Amino acid sequence: MGAKNFKYVILGGGVSAGYAAREFAKQGLKPGELAVISKEAVAPYERPALSKAYLFPESPARLPGFHVCVGSGGERLLPDWYKGKGIELILNTEIVKADLPGKTLVSGSGESFKYQTLVIATGSSVIRLTDFGVKGADAKNIFYLREIDDADKLYEAIKSKKNGKAVIVGGGYIGLELGAVLKINNLDVKMVYPEPWCMPRLFTSGIAAFYEGYYQNKGVKIIKGTVATGFTADSNGEVKEVHLKDGTVLEADIVVVGVGGRPLTTLFKGQVEEEKGGIKTDAFFKTSVPDVYAVGDVATFPLKLYNEIRRVEHVDHARKSAEQAVKAIKASEEGKTVEEYDYLPYFYSRSFDLSWQFYGDNVGETVLFGDSNPATPKAKFGTYWIKDGKVIGAFLEGGTPEENQAIAKVAKAQPPVASLDQLAAEGLSFACKI
Ligand code: FDA
Ligand code: NAD
Repeated sequence: MGAKNFKYVILGGGVSAGYAAREFAKQGLKPGELAVISKEAVAPYERPALSKAYLFPESPARLPGFHVCVGSGGERLLPDWYKGKGIELILNTEIVKADLPGKTLVSGSGESFKYQTLVIATGSSVIRLTDFGVKGADAKNIFYLREIDDADKLYEAIKSKKNGKAVIVGGGYIGLELGAVLKINNLDVKMVYPEPWCMPRLFTSGIAAFYEGYYQNKGVKIIKGTVATGFTADSNGEVKEVHLKDGTVLEADIVVVGVGGRPLTTLFKGQVEEEKGGIKTDAFFKTSVPDVYAVGDVATFPLKLYNEIRRVEHVDHARKSAEQAVKAIKASEEGKTVEEYDYLPYFYSRSFDLSWQFYGDNVGETVLFGDSNPATPKAKFGTYWIKDGKVIGAFLEGGTPEENQAIAKVAKAQPPVASLDQLAAEGLSFACKI
């Protein structure tokens, strides 16, 4: 079988891939020049929907409703859009071998693809409990959530285990978003995580206390400071019990595990420089290998604002890094350059009727402001992070679009603060006047 040849190949069909394809089209593309190769069966979509509206009991979100680039207010790229631009969308195709010096990719069914320029956009895969030998972790109805197929299986289980018992393992993004959506589906939900509070990689204890209180008020039971050490299944192989390290046994019809992700870099091991678990890039997402770029979750890039090398596993960066890489590729073809990537970290989450945004960096001292009582209807509160006398990060629950813009501005401007007490007293109005 002869190899298919393309000028550009985007490897991966997720968020970055979709935004990169749009940028290629914007910058000028001839039919047949670009291929997007994805192991998924569908065109690129906004992955965040999977842990939220995709699992709603009433009118759940379904494709084509959330194909990229709708998540950032753009037009949806339906499969016909790729066709119309002469972009080959090669779906259901997993690349199992990458030969970077030979500029060739090989699929599981033995097809070869040659490229002049490669954009690696393989994203992350989930960490599984079977990876560290948790007993019984391969039982049926233990779910992970990364791709639309995973979400479909979970959705079916939610329907078939009506009013059943669910245990969520992990207190990060997946844990909190899935804990809420399973509760909305009227399951009896228990969450288990090892840390003293949820989402410790971002939340302070003060922020976490609000969400834990809110979830408990909704009827979610939270078990902290312990981990799942084993599962038992019934004669059909379906999970029935979750055994915790502290000796507790929880009944379960459905288990959802969210214990972190791992960037998908294995195809390129030994062929490209890596750092901090990702593929090392410059400010244009160029890797150590000529004509090879890496974007989204897999890229470890210079975060100019903090003069540090970082990897970011969030959708805003997936979109922006993809656009930056394509602009840089196109500019370099004309002997030009683009400005360095100057990213302000932005993360968000939504669950129940809550919605928060965070901008900047979460290091240094913190100040909690506003009403963080979980019993207050439509509570609005936030936190500033202060380092070297300057505000460098800001979190806000329940903000209006204008207020969210204000905390973004404050995180970027890094204004000095005279006193933490005064900052706490001023609260959101401090950000609004910047
Ligand atoms: P992404 O995972 O989107 O895409 C990778 C693609 O590559 C997939 O299509 C995959 O199948 C494909 N692929 C991988 N290896 C391949 C191979 N060998 N051959 C072929 N194809 C291959 N962030 C946020 O800021 N707010 C939010 O609310 C959420 N919510 C959220 C929910 C859920 C359920 C998840 C899993 C993640 C989020 N995120 C998020 C994180 C965000 O979705 C994530 O950072 C981006 O999707 C990353 O985009 P990428 O394009 O890098 O990877
Ligand atoms: P995470 O890193 O956010 O959270 C992992 C959590 O797993 C930890 O906080 C800890 O509580 C828990 N944990 C670790 N080991 C454990 C163990 N042995 N037993 C029980 N708990 C354990 O990862 P995630 O929630 O799995 O999310 C996966 C990926 O999806 C991440 O890249 C994340 O950024 C992304 N995502 C993002 C959003 C968002 O930005 N709103 C939403 C969903 C998913």
